[in-house]
Amino acid sequence: MLWWAWLLIALAVYCLITAILCLRFPETHIDWNQVNLEELTFPTDFSWGVATASHQIEGHNQNNWSKFESERGIEVSGAACNHWNRWETDFDLVESLGVGHYRFSIEWSRIQPQEGEWNEDALQQYSKMIDNLLARGIEPMVTLHHFSHPIWFEEKGGFLNQSNIHFWADYCERVFTALSDRVTNWCTVNEPEVFSIMGYHMKLFPPGKGSIRKTIRVMKNVVMAHVTVYHSLKALRPEARIGLAKNITIFDPLHRWNLLHWLTTFILNYIWNGAIISAFTKGRMFGRRIPKAKGSLDYIGLNYYTHALVSPFIPQTIEVDLPKRPHEIMTEFGYPMYAEGLQRSVELLKPLKVPIEITENGVADSEDSLRPEHLKRHLWVISEMLKQGFDIRSYYHWSLMDNFEWAEGYSLRFGLYHVDYETQVRTLRKSGEIYRKIIN
Ligand code: FCB
Repeated sequence: MLWWAWLLIALAVYCLITAILCLRFPETHIDWNQVNLEELTFPTDFSWGVATASHQIEGHNQNNWSKFESERGIEVSGAACNHWNRWETDFDLVESLGVGHYRFSIEWSRIQPQEGEWNEDALQQYSKMIDNLLARGIEPMVTLHHFSHPIWFEEKGGFLNQSNIHFWADYCERVFTALSDRVTNWCTVNEPEVFSIMGYHMKLFPPGKGSIRKTIRVMKNVVMAHVTVYHSLKALRPEARIGLAKNITIFDPLHRWNLLHWLTTFILNYIWNGAIISAFTKGRMFGRRIPKAKGSLDYIGLNYYTHALVSPFIPQTIEVDLPKRPHEIMTEFGYPMYAEGLQRSVELLKPLKVPIEITENGVADSEDSLRPEHLKRHLWVISEMLKQGFDIRSYYHWSLMDNFEWAEGYSLRFGLYHVDYETQVRTLRKSGEIYRKIIN
């Protein structure tokens, strides 16, 4: 055959493969002008909540993060929202939103500041906080690890060493024993993929390493840590509901006609989403067996923020805005608002066959000009999914109030309440009022 005939065949095959991929993996876009965002239907037992994390709000924590902040010369968390001293009035804010649920995390470095040293006062304070929430009719969801842990644990190699898992398990059992008589919903770890990729590949979280091999090892160990703790806590109290919070980022090829972009999409999707899902559905991730992972989730927490348009040349930094489709709105975090991805995320989690709790969703928006629309679009998507029969039980807005946004410091504001860090005055934003209205 002539060379150009071969070329034509190759071209036809290329086009066929791209066409199949485009059809098989559509990038959903809704014409929001055609949608009535006021039309929301939620069952009466749907759980409404807000979420926070210890290191982002408590203030003056001494942990892997505070160490990283000073060593790297990034913005320090410092007093944060001084929530450790203001928790009671902060719970007034939670209550006045009308939510019945509050997700927050326990700071391991407060409970166990040194190896073998337990701080009963700190545990007592968390216990008081729980009593206080319950007295207000607010059900707590407790996260046991939300990115931060004691410096001594980090110095032992943290989750890079499988042999360190028992340290974390000890802490979890201690907290669980003290609080599980009143707390039903437990979230073992927050975003194992974000924790490992940001900390061991992108150098943006502690310990600031840049190694794919270590990233994979940490991700696997964190999943194993969850599995260990799931089984040990269930043995202590079988009626507890235990899961973890998984960040789902939807990956889409920047150019849908480019097979290299598709290939990048599949690789990133596996590393970020697929590997962890596979641990719980098949008992394997990255080709390795994860014993007892199957059946170690009573629910899956979903943290959803955006989709990423990828090519093999994506920048490995958050200083640059990610690409967006022309009609999409860019958020202050540098990624687009893409509420459609919430349904795609829920579909990705479907093979786990457990109820879904939306443990985080929100937007960085200092002027509160985008948040009302962002909130309504995402709630509309959930409302539609509920009509389609998806088992979604709750929605926790990220976040109750502005707080320390990790590598971005205080520049990004996610709160339903604005926080003036000078005076520690909290002020309800318009979007907070909207959320309250919707809930009520
Ligand atoms: C999530 C984190 C949470 C917060 C939001 C914006 O990845 O779990 O702590 O920083 O992003």
